[in-house]
Amino acid sequence: MEKKQKFYEMGVPERLVQLAVEAGLDEGDLDVLSGKAGLSTDLAERMIENVIGIYALPLGIARNFVVNGREMPVPMVIEEPSVVAAASYMAKLARAGGGFKASASPPEMIGQVQVLDVKDTESAAKALEKQKDAILKAADVDEVLRRLGGGPRELSVRIISEAPAGPFLVLHIVMDVRNAMGANAVNTALEKITPMVEKITGGRALLRILTNLADRRLARASCTIPPEALKTDTFSGEDVRDRIIEASAFAEADTYRAATHNKGIMNGVDAVVIATGNDWRAVEAGAHAYAARGGRYTSLSRWSQAGDAALHGELEMPMAVGTVGGATRVHPTAWIALKMMGVQSARELAEIIVSVGLAQNLGALRALATEGIQQGHMALHARQVAIAAGASPELAEAVAGRMVEEDQVNLDRAREILQERSREK
Ligand code: MEV
Repeated sequence: MEKKQKFYEMGVPERLVQLAVEAGLDEGDLDVLSGKAGLSTDLAERMIENVIGIYALPLGIARNFVVNGREMPVPMVIEEPSVVAAASYMAKLARAGGGFKASASPPEMIGQVQVLDVKDTESAAKALEKQKDAILKAADVDEVLRRLGGGPRELSVRIISEAPAGPFLVLHIVMDVRNAMGANAVNTALEKITPMVEKITGGRALLRILTNLADRRLARASCTIPPEALKTDTFSGEDVRDRIIEASAFAEADTYRAATHNKGIMNGVDAVVIATGNDWRAVEAGAHAYAARGGRYTSLSRWSQAGDAALHGELEMPMAVGTVGGATRVHPTAWIALKMMGVQSARELAEIIVSVGLAQNLGALRALATEGIQQGHMALHARQVAIAAGASPELAEAVAGRMVEEDQVNLDRAREILQERSREK
C-alpha cells in the first residue's frame, strides 16, 4: 500500500486540495488562498488611506491541533521560519495527552472615561455610582448588540489623586460585545454617555476610549504531556520535562527573560490573530500589560509537573478578538481563515489562539532547554539550501542532514552531495 504523504511533504497545490477536503473549502476559497483572487487594491482602498498596493506575507497551516476535543487546521500568517513547524509538532505532542483544554471568559471589554475639573472627586464618584442604572441604560445604544444578548454590564469609578493634571475620575464601563472585537461598540457607547457623566459630576470628560488591558476577556489554555512524548535523541522525557520547568522558572523570576518568553508565545498568537484579520496591536498591548499586572512584568505561561509525572502547561491572557466586524469580514483571506477552523464565536477563536500560544511557548522552551534553538533553525536553513541546490523534496532532508552533520551548510556542499548521490545510483 502506498504511504500517505504528510502535509509538509506535499507541494502547495496538493496541500490546498487536502485542506479543502478537511475544512470544506470551495473553489472560490481556494482561488483566494492561492492568490488568484483575494485582497485587491480596490478593496484595500476601502480599508485604509493612500493605498499604493498590497503587502503579502506567507500563510501556513499548523497541523495536529486538538482544542477541547475538536481538531482543526490552524492558519498562521508569519514571516519567521520554524514557527508553523514548531506549533504543529508541539500540537502533536499535546495530542498525546488529549490535546489542549481551553476556555474563555464572556466577551467583555472595558471602556474608560477620564473626567477632569471635578470639585469634589469623592462625592462625584459616589454620584456616578448612584446613577449607575441610568448611565448603563444610556450606554445601551447598540440595538444589534442588545438583540444578540450583549450590551453594558457594569460600572465602576476610580479616583486618580496623584497626577500632574490634578485629581481626576476614571469611569469604567464593562460591555459584553459578543462576537465583535468591540472597540467600536465601546467607544460609541462612551461618547453617548458623555453629557450625562459631565452633568452628574460637574466635570469635563476628556478621553473616552476602550482599554486594551482587556482583563475581563481572558482566554486560558492548558495541556498535559506524558514524558514519553517529550524525549529526544539525547534526553529522556523526564529530563526534557524538568528542563522545561526550569526554563519556565527563569521567565517567571526575571523580566529580561519574561519578555523573550512572552515573545515566543506571541509568535503563535499574533500569527493566528493576523490570519483572521484581527487587531494584533490590541492583543499585543493587552498581553504585555497583563503580564505586568502584579507590578512586575513576568511570564504569561507556567510549566510544572503534574501528579502523574507529566508536564503541565498553562497560559492565560487577554484575548480581544472578533469574528465579525473590522477586517475579519472584509479581508477575503481572513474570512476563509475563520471558515477553515470552523469557529462559531469569538470565544471559540480566542480558545484556539491561546492554545497556539501555549504550543509555541512549549516549542521554544523544548528547543532552548535541550539542543538549543540554532540546531533546529540550522536544519531548516539546510533544507532550504538543499532545495536551492536542486534537491527534490524527498532528497532534501537527507542532503540537509549530511550538511548539518558535517557543519558545512552551503550551496556548493549541497551540490557536491547531490552529485555523489547521483553517481552512486
Ligand atoms: C524567537 O522568535 C522566539 C524565542 O526567542 C522564544 C523564547 O526564547 O522562548 C525562541
